[in-house]
Amino acid sequence: MQPELTLFSTIAGTGSALPERIVTNHELAERIDTSHEWIVERTGIHQRHLVSEGQNTSDLACAAALQAIAASGIDAVEIDLVVVATTTPDLVFPSVACLVQQKLGIVNRCPAFDLQAVCSGFIYALSTADNFIRAGQARCALVIGADVMSRITDWNDRSNCILWGDGAGAVVLRASDTPGVLATHLHADGRYRDLLHAGSAPDGGGCAVRMQGNAVFRFAVRTLDEIVDETLEKNGLQKDDITWLVPHQANIRIIEATAKKLGMSMDKVVVTVDRHANTSAASVPLALDTAVRDGRIKKGDTLLLEAFGGGFTWGSALIKWMV
Ligand code: ACO
Repeated sequence: MQPELTLFSTIAGTGSALPERIVTNHELAERIDTSHEWIVERTGIHQRHLVSEGQNTSDLACAAALQAIAASGIDAVEIDLVVVATTTPDLVFPSVACLVQQKLGIVNRCPAFDLQAVCSGFIYALSTADNFIRAGQARCALVIGADVMSRITDWNDRSNCILWGDGAGAVVLRASDTPGVLATHLHADGRYRDLLHAGSAPDGGGCAVRMQGNAVFRFAVRTLDEIVDETLEKNGLQKDDITWLVPHQANIRIIEATAKKLGMSMDKVVVTVDRHANTSAASVPLALDTAVRDGRIKKGDTLLLEAFGGGFTWGSALIKWMV
């Protein structure tokens, strides 16, 4: 039998999860040579949520997924694709997606896999699931961004340990007759490993993020400028057609630069970096869920989601909010 063809996908519900433990800048300043004022001025971050011993990426991913499933009103058995964006899987294998599938009791043998594009991971995962649905290969996808960045952070490296937080965000993406995901645009440039990478330390120590923050900052601002132009141009939109900017939450100064590029006032930008810090693949869906649950995002709104991360990778998703 030929698969039933559907041209579009739409987000039916969102969810998110944060570890209970909150670590403030003041607490970090007791351990490393930094200050609350420096962190707020350079990044906009006031606090981050960090996992406790024994809490893993799949735990956060499942909690976020359960919320998204409840919000979308589907039954978990309807899910026929699980995609998890993560850089910090519980294990090398099985994937977090397979762990989530098992924990949620999805026993219908649907495909489940992880995808790694660091902070751009959720945009990549959303684009992948959208394409599965457009191709008629799935009708109800669970798309998750989840990371426990604290496990790959060198807590003695003040130049970047202040940036990271842990969390997860999820959406249920369903086949629909009308377009919810209007377009996605993905890019990567693999020449910049020296500026941002995580791998085993040369001294044989554990895996830790190493970043030349200033150079990454400049590259991120320039690249996000370009993706805004590309997204508007390729979809025949003007800046004021965008109702909400839902950006990756890396640094408030990067977010402000993108808002300025769009000619948008900051009250049309979803900002969670102050409370969540940079949760990598979780950051965009966490911000999305926050603004959906507090009622800012309404039916008919047009959203621009964007992210930039290690690789380098970057991308955008243009969404018409349909629920
Ligand atoms: N507290 C106090 N001082 C500090 C700290 C700290 N935590 N960290 C660095 N400094 C000092 C530096 O030593 C330097 O001192 P010097 O002038 O005496 O040499 C000074 O502050 C300025 O350092 P910079 O690195 O130039 O600071 P900058 O303003 O660039 O801020 C930051 C650093 C916050 C890391 C910023 O560069 C940034 O946000 N970069 C982009 C991060 C990002 O978006 N990454 C991409 C996504 S992440 C991913 O995909 C995994």
